[in-house]
Amino acid sequence: MNVQPIEWRQGKLFLLDQRALPESVRYLECSTAEEVAFAIETLAVRGAPAIGIAAAYGVVLASAGGPDEAARAAFRLSGTRPTAVNLFWALNRMKNALARFTAVNSDGRALKEFLLEEAAAIHREDLEINRAIGRHGQSLLPQSCTVLTHCNAGALATGGYGTALGVIRAAREAGKAVRVIADETRPVLQGARLTAWELAAEGFDVTVICDSMAEAAIKKFEVNAVIVGADRIAANGDTANKIGTRPLALLAAFHRVPFYVAAPTSTLDLAIPSGEEIPIEERPSSEILFFQGKRCAPEGVKAWNPAFDVTPASLITALITERGVVTPPFEGKLQDLLD
Ligand code: MRU
Repeated sequence: MNVQPIEWRQGKLFLLDQRALPESVRYLECSTAEEVAFAIETLAVRGAPAIGIAAAYGVVLASAGGPDEAARAAFRLSGTRPTAVNLFWALNRMKNALARFTAVNSDGRALKEFLLEEAAAIHREDLEINRAIGRHGQSLLPQSCTVLTHCNAGALATGGYGTALGVIRAAREAGKAVRVIADETRPVLQGARLTAWELAAEGFDVTVICDSMAEAAIKKFEVNAVIVGADRIAANGDTANKIGTRPLALLAAFHRVPFYVAAPTSTLDLAIPSGEEIPIEERPSSEILFFQGKRCAPEGVKAWNPAFDVTPASLITALITERGVVTPPFEGKLQDLLD
């Protein structure tokens, strides 16, 4: 992708405002941790790895006020979105860096500069990790294939390149012909607005469908694989991802289509045994009751808006990580990956 989703420039964080896509490419300038927190909450920046990276830079911004301010910012940022574990993983790295700085403060380096090195490393490593996920994942796809994906697990959701879309990009780089079916992904339309936008910009053959058309599309387009990203993967392989992922996995199982989850190892949460323990974010009902600022359901009705669901490990054909492809049963194997 030609545009950078997350950029650190002149001591500030610039986020490609994903709320404005695909109509306009505009950047949100953040000079405080609070602005970064608000950007995460309102989905100006979204996707598990991307919110971790943005939050890390948020801590850097706050550190101009000293270590206590940086610690307060880490706490504030940890309250922005509950499901993606990458957010907490990145903030932990920043808190550890803060502790290291306090211990070696005598070297005279400014706190902001010290923390910036850590945030930039998280950002840089994510891009390398995505490319490794792509390399491993593309080997699972046939020479000519149709892949169905949900939400946006692309360059926009990461430090660049993407996880699920990274596999698709890598397949094309390996000379394969890939056609993409993108679920629109109600209610925020990450598939229609973001996945289609970043793939079309690179000349991919991409077809947007309503979420309810997935089964018809699997049959019509002879889908070879479903590939999605993840927000948190429990020790047994149960995976939280954008709401609608679990029904897709059920469909894939029914039609004997492989169902792949592409994610960095920072998405693993081995402290929780199963998906039961994954906190599921519930977002404002206005995301459902209004469409592009216009009410689309009668006044007075309620809406329920869980942002994620949990796909049981039993429905996952393989997990594609930067350290290789893992197949079920996942227990033990995920710990081995981290070791
Ligand atoms: O609510 P979002 O847009 O942040 O949800 C994002 C997803 O569900 C992605 O699939 C997931 O974070 C993986 S991004 C590489």
